[in-house]
Amino acid sequence: MRALLVAGARPNFMKVAPVLRALKAAGDEAILVHTGQHYDYEMSGAFFRDLDLPEPDYYLNVGSGSHAVQTARVMEAFEPVLLESRPDWVVLVGDVNSTIACALVAAKLKETTGARIAHVEAGLRSHDWRMPEEVNRVLTDRLSDLLLLPSRDALPNLISEGLSEDRIAFAGNVMIDTLHAQLSAARALDVPSRYGVDRGDCVVVTLHRPSNVDERSSLAQILEALAEIAADRPVVFPIHPRTARNVATFGLEAALSRLNVVEPLGYRDMLGLVEGAGVVLTDSGGLQEETTVLGVPCVTLREQTERPITIEQGTNRLAPWPLTVEGIVASYRQAVASRQDTWVVPEGWDGRAALRIVEALHEHEGSLSLASPVTAERT
Ligand code: UD1
Repeated sequence: MRALLVAGARPNFMKVAPVLRALKAAGDEAILVHTGQHYDYEMSGAFFRDLDLPEPDYYLNVGSGSHAVQTARVMEAFEPVLLESRPDWVVLVGDVNSTIACALVAAKLKETTGARIAHVEAGLRSHDWRMPEEVNRVLTDRLSDLLLLPSRDALPNLISEGLSEDRIAFAGNVMIDTLHAQLSAARALDVPSRYGVDRGDCVVVTLHRPSNVDERSSLAQILEALAEIAADRPVVFPIHPRTARNVATFGLEAALSRLNVVEPLGYRDMLGLVEGAGVVLTDSGGLQEETTVLGVPCVTLREQTERPITIEQGTNRLAPWPLTVEGIVASYRQAVASRQDTWVVPEGWDGRAALRIVEALHEHEGSLSLASPVTAERT
C-alpha cells in the first residue's frame, strides 16, 4: 500500500509523524508532502527536528496569503504531485487550509488516479461557520472516503450529515501518540525552570484565533485579563506570529509588560512547559486535548469547542462568552481551584491511534467504491 500524507501547518506535524512511522513499520510506502503553509523555523522546522520527521518528499512552498490565495496555491502545487505519485490513499489530518485544498484536488482526480481520501480527525464540529477551520472540516469530511474518528462523540456529527457508517472507523487521537512518545524527553528538559518558574506554578497562554486577535478591542481585553492573572502567577506566553503582528499593528506592546512573552516553542519545549504548568489559557484545539491527557486545567478562550469531550471528561472549561476581563479571570480562578479534580482520559487517547489508522487503511483498501460517501437514502 502506498499512502501520501499531507502536512501544512504547525498542528499537522504531530499528527502526521506517528502515522508515517506506523506505515513504515507495517511495510507500507509513505510519501510526505509539506505544503509550506507554515514555513518559519519556529512554526515548522523545529517540529520536524523534535518529531524526527524525515525531509518531505515534496515541499510545495505556498507560504502565507489570504484564505483563497493560500488554498489555491496548495491546490495548484498539489495536483502535479498527486498525478506523479499515484498513491492508494491521500491521508489528510486536521482542519487547516492545506487539508481542504488537498481534499479538493484528490476528490476531483479520483477517477484518474484511483487514490482514495482518508481524513484523520474526522467528525469534529464547532457548529460555528465563522471559523475557517469549521468550513475546512465539514467539507473535507464530505469529500473523504474514509473518516477516522478521534473520539466516539464525533460519530453522530457525521451520521447527522448523511455520511455512511461503513466509511467511518474509530481511530482515537493520533496527536496523543506523539505526546506519549515525547513526554519523558520533554519532562527531562525542565522547561519551567528556564523561565524561572516552579513546576505546577505558571500559567501558559497561547492565542491565535482571528476572532480573538484580529480586532484591537478583543485582543486588548484578553491582554488586560492576562496582566491581572500575572499579578497572581507568572504567565509564559509563546506568541504566535499572527498575534505578534497584531500587537504591533494595534500598538498594544505595553499590555504585554507583565507577561513573559517568548517566541513560539518547538513541540518538545511546549510539551515540557505545558506539562509543568499550573493552568493553560488557550484558543488552540490541540492544547485542549493535550491538557486533558496531562491533567492540567485548561481555560478555552472561545465561544464553543469542537472538542466537547475535553470538557465532559477532561480538564477543559470554556470562559464565559462574550469574553470579558472579569469572565476570563474568574475562569482562571476556577481552573486553579479545580487542580485536584479527577478527570478521565478519553477512549483511544492511548498512544496507539496510528496503529488503528494504518489497520483501517488496510481494511478499507479496495473495499470502498469511489462513489459518493453519503448514504444512498439521503442523497
Ligand atoms: C493556521 C490554521 C489554524 C491552526 C494554526 C496553528 C487555517 C485556516 N488555520 O492558522 O487552524 O490552528 O495554523 O498555528 O489553516 N506566519 C508566520 N510564519 C509562519 C506561518 C504563519 O509568520 O510560519 C504568519 C503569517 O503572517 C500569516 C499568519 O501568521 O499571515 C497566519 O498564518 P496562517 O497559516 O494563515 O494561519 P494561522 O493563524 O497560523
